[in-house]
Amino acid sequence: MNEEQRKHGQQSKSATPSDQKSEKDYSKYFQSVYVPPSLKDAKKRGKEEISYHSDFTIEDQYRGLGNGKKFYIRTYGCQMNEHDTEVMAGIFMALGYEATNTTEDADVILLNTCAIRENAENKVFGELGHLKHLKREKPELLIGVCGCMSQEESVVNKILKTYQQVDMIFGTHNIHRLPKILSDAYMSKAMVVEVWSKEGDVIENLPKVRRGNIKAWVNIMYGCDKFCTYCIVPYTRGKERSRRPEEIIQEVRHLAAQGYQEITLLGQNVNAYGKDIEDLEQYGLGDLMDELRKIDIPRIRFTTSHPRDFDDHLIEVLAKKGNLVEHIHLPVQSGSTDVLKIMARKYSREQFLELVRKIKLAMPDVSLTTDIIVGYPNETNEQFEETLSLYREVGFESAYTYIYSPREGTPAAKMNDNVPMEVKKERLQRLNALVKEFSAEAMKKYQGQVVEVLVDGESKKNPDVLAGYTRRSKLVNFKAPNSMIGKIVKVKIIEAKSWSLDGEFIEEGSIGTEFQEPVEVN
Ligand code: SAH
Ligand code: SF4
Ligand code: F3S
Repeated sequence: MNEEQRKHGQQSKSATPSDQKSEKDYSKYFQSVYVPPSLKDAKKRGKEEISYHSDFTIEDQYRGLGNGKKFYIRTYGCQMNEHDTEVMAGIFMALGYEATNTTEDADVILLNTCAIRENAENKVFGELGHLKHLKREKPELLIGVCGCMSQEESVVNKILKTYQQVDMIFGTHNIHRLPKILSDAYMSKAMVVEVWSKEGDVIENLPKVRRGNIKAWVNIMYGCDKFCTYCIVPYTRGKERSRRPEEIIQEVRHLAAQGYQEITLLGQNVNAYGKDIEDLEQYGLGDLMDELRKIDIPRIRFTTSHPRDFDDHLIEVLAKKGNLVEHIHLPVQSGSTDVLKIMARKYSREQFLELVRKIKLAMPDVSLTTDIIVGYPNETNEQFEETLSLYREVGFESAYTYIYSPREGTPAAKMNDNVPMEVKKERLQRLNALVKEFSAEAMKKYQGQVVEVLVDGESKKNPDVLAGYTRRSKLVNFKAPNSMIGKIVKVKIIEAKSWSLDGEFIEEGSIGTEFQEPVEVN
């Protein structure tokens, strides 16, 4: 064990298949040699000091580890995971690996996993099943599981027991140790497991290979301390910890200089930004945005907002607009105060509506979108109806909607639940019908209007058509020369559909940020 591992009470370990022939052998091995990840430890807060590391380098002994080899990473889950994949890709490249986009071609395959709902996990187990034959054909292939599922003890146990094709498992706090984990995996025939159940550190200077050169993710904070009763994230991602503003500002400046057109600030709960930085009193997301908006980059977004920490100063700064866009993703989860209470969201229906009122007052043309969970344990029909009525009252323009999925280790998973699955599915359908109706309604307002679109590339459905998004995150499809990709252009909307807009290209837009989409206000 090295110093860092000792501090976290965890160690890398190797599990040889022969140790796991029977359940009995396996558990004996498990208790004596290996410290599994622990959701209970991951829940602890305030015991460890958060350390900031700004000295990440690839140690000499690992240089060239990947020469002549290719890596493939499949990413599941949220933007945080997408961005972690960019960091891991950066580490792979620094080690001499090349990227490939087929598993058949790869010498190392990583599954960067998500634990948010059961179906997310099932997809990963399904994929591991598919990869078994590749491993059989190419025994020198390394298969790794990382991301949020690796932080769960039940998942690690299941992989140890039934997925012998896996060579490495490492957690969300261990990404910076990828060179050592890979090197250990090459040296040993056994499974390498390194998962720290800790509050987490902040590590700067990690290499990154970003996907694309138009839009970029920028982490502003990590972890979550909210512990909503249904959610696994605080256990898999550790404590809320902010990056220093100067590091973020420098990264955004650098991206602007490289020609990026849009950045999205990332965190599970970006509104808690800054609270943990002791030497910066009262410095929050509003202050950070106020500095970032002065940087010459056309668009800045952020995700995800927690309604509880959304303060007046942030509203005031967002209302200055410029490169701060008029779209806020504001997950509400439920429209019933009673349900919100048992979810531990720490706001009521009325408080949420009051926040929306303040936001709309400051930004009458704002587009609001949300996340909603239906079928929370014991949710009554009346409580569900309150969600529908809140949706209408706010006038959300779109939503991600989910059926509640019990997550082992969370308080909600222990609750009795009297809502049958058919009822949950029916509620989801009713909600989705409303979401579609409101999305179509919001799109209709654009008919005949000219909007500013940041062109991402060819449409996924039709390569003859280009696709991009407006400041309010509306997908627009239109025909234009490919040379417009990566630019902000003006498009006249010809047809509004339920989820997207079809338009006619007018001209290359001024890269100015003063342009406002001409949308009527509800
Ligand atoms: N930090 C963000 C949410 C990240 S998870 C926030 O608080 O807004 C993304 C969404 O997944 C959540 O907003 C919630 O709607 C959903 N979700 C989280 N846990 C879930 C569970 N156990 N079952 C179903 N949906 C869940
Ligand atoms: Fe999960 Fe709640 Fe944290 Fe969002 S705020 S990540 S829903 S615990
Ligand atoms: Fe999933 Fe982890 Fe993100 S659980 S949603 S990948 S933080």
